[in-house]
Amino acid sequence: MRKASHQGLRRDAVGMPAAARAMWTRLYAETPLRALPWAHRTPFPPLVRVVDDGWLSPPGPLLDVGSGVGTNSYWLAGRGFRTTGVDIAPGAIAAAESNRAPEGRRPRFLVDDILVSALPRARFRAAVDVGCFQTLPPRTRRAFSTSLARLLAPGAPYVLFWVAREETGAWGPPHRLSVGDVVDTFEPLFRVERIEYRPRRVRLSRAVMRSSRPLATLAGYTAKLVRRSAPQPPAR
Ligand SMILES: C[S@@+](CC[C@H](N)C(=O)[O-])C[C@H]1O[C@@H](n2cnc3c(N)ncnc32)[C@H](O)[C@@H]1O
Repeated sequence: MRKASHQGLRRDAVGMPAAARAMWTRLYAETPLRALPWAHRTPFPPLVRVVDDGWLSPPGPLLDVGSGVGTNSYWLAGRGFRTTGVDIAPGAIAAAESNRAPEGRRPRFLVDDILVSALPRARFRAAVDVGCFQTLPPRTRRAFSTSLARLLAPGAPYVLFWVAREETGAWGPPHRLSVGDVVDTFEPLFRVERIEYRPRRVRLSRAVMRSSRPLATLAGYTAKLVRRSAPQPPAR
């Protein structure tokens, strides 16, 4: 399994807090993959929709941020994107690598902490994020934006999906981000091109459906941000 080399990284860059890194590592090491609520065999439907609608165009290279077991990376590779999936959890990358490519090119997978990624500057012409940013400890959000901006070429789109602040169901990520949270984090380095609110039907386990506040739809947003060529000018 490949791990990103962190030689040459800025000395002041701060990665994932040790507890959060350990949580993800343990989760993939100890949980059967089929019990992870996001580890589906089919790609994330809103991702399929944005590619079908032309928000992203092949060939990339494209970064799948927090790629988990790699289902979306494989699907994107099948759609003609030169895809690299990175995840902080070695168990996620091992599971992704052990999958067989259904069709087309194989993605490349790397164990890497996106907050301090040592992948080359401006390497990628697009990025997608299905559920990674929304799980980060809030104090690391700016580091995420800075690191992602370093990895993307100017003008590159970044498509971000997240569970909405409006969602009150019992299931979901630890943080429910508002549109303001996202704009505040990314705007200095990214231009916000579009944001859509789209509740969607979800496939959840019986245990979740029996929980105190079960849900059959999940309120979520999809945003397309574009890497600025220079930081946004300061407000007057
Ligand atoms: C909710 S899961 C989504 C996984 C995958 N995108 C999917 O849709 O199946 C979030 C993923 O982000 C990864 N992750 C969290 N923090 C990360 C970081 N700092 N760098 C890289 N990956 C990270 C986790 O290990 C986990 O696999």
